[in-house]
Amino acid sequence: MARIVVLGSIARDEVIHLDDRLLEGRHLQGAPPVPRLGGGGANTAIALAHAGHEVSLVAAVGTDPLADELLAEASRHGVDIGPVTRISGASTRSLVLLDPSGERTIVNLTRSREARPPQRLLSLDADCVYVRSNGQDLSELLRTKAKLCPIVAQFRPLREGRLPVHVLVGSQKDLDERILADPLAEGRRLAGDVLRWVVITHGAEGAEAFGIEGQRLRATAPDVDAVDTTGAGDAFAAGMAHALALRLDMAQALPLAVRWGAAKVTRGGSFLDRDTVRDLIRESTGRSSPSRP
Ligand SMILES: Nc1ncnc2c1ncn2[C@@H]1O[C@H](COP(=O)(O)OP(=O)(O)O)[C@@H](O)[C@H]1O
Ligand SMILES: [Mg+2]
Repeated sequence: MARIVVLGSIARDEVIHLDDRLLEGRHLQGAPPVPRLGGGGANTAIALAHAGHEVSLVAAVGTDPLADELLAEASRHGVDIGPVTRISGASTRSLVLLDPSGERTIVNLTRSREARPPQRLLSLDADCVYVRSNGQDLSELLRTKAKLCPIVAQFRPLREGRLPVHVLVGSQKDLDERILADPLAEGRRLAGDVLRWVVITHGAEGAEAFGIEGQRLRATAPDVDAVDTTGAGDAFAAGMAHALALRLDMAQALPLAVRWGAAKVTRGGSFLDRDTVRDLIRESTGRSSPSRP
């Protein structure tokens, strides 16, 4: 399979199951928080490791005992945590509020973040890079990397040219009207000449992709019973990185990523489990991925 590098967070999620929808000013009942592994980087990296890829996670954890737990868990799922660095202080933690329809709202509590761009990215060979981290100027690193392999990144509020990547992905709910009105214009502003596609995900509606040559693709999500939408976008990104690392084109990658996202919402947890990923690969190729040693 392929070598994939993921830049993004690894976190402890505290999940609270609510008895009703979240509405401002309401009084709700919730069960005591249930801890689980999360973080956009880890969620995508684990799904990709389950697909049989060699996955390296470029992330930061703190110097608290939680850091060791997070790393041990990611490692158990087959992710190479060698490029994870430790920053003095607390590891990343979030509160996940889950309503009865399976929709989630995330509140970030603490965040472990590197002060400088992770230069070690350049020493990691990759068939695809996925960027989920925010806050840093990665433009120099990505410009170098973009000459070597496809790069997929989440939209981030950044200055012009600061995200030189081939594919920008964003969730409709996270993007403002200005971007949604003309995704390619904003994509070009962020990514410059490197950009090939902007992909917008629409939850239960699936996703659409806008190509720089005027192509417009749409993929409808299968009608599923949503149990937990946490990590849907991360699973979608994993499907996209998987497809692009295997050099599939966007017409194949988009529906595949939509199926990975939809499969996630039918299960609890923040990331796709190994059996579900195996089923997804079997469904798309007619055979299972080679198992890891
Ligand atoms: N309720 C749902 N039913 C089916 N598929 C879903 C559902 N919610 C999300 N997905 C899948 O996950 C992808 C990403 O979900 P979305 O909600 O747009 O992103 P995010 O999780 O980042 O908010 C969608 O494109 C779709 O493939
Ligand atoms: Mg969603």
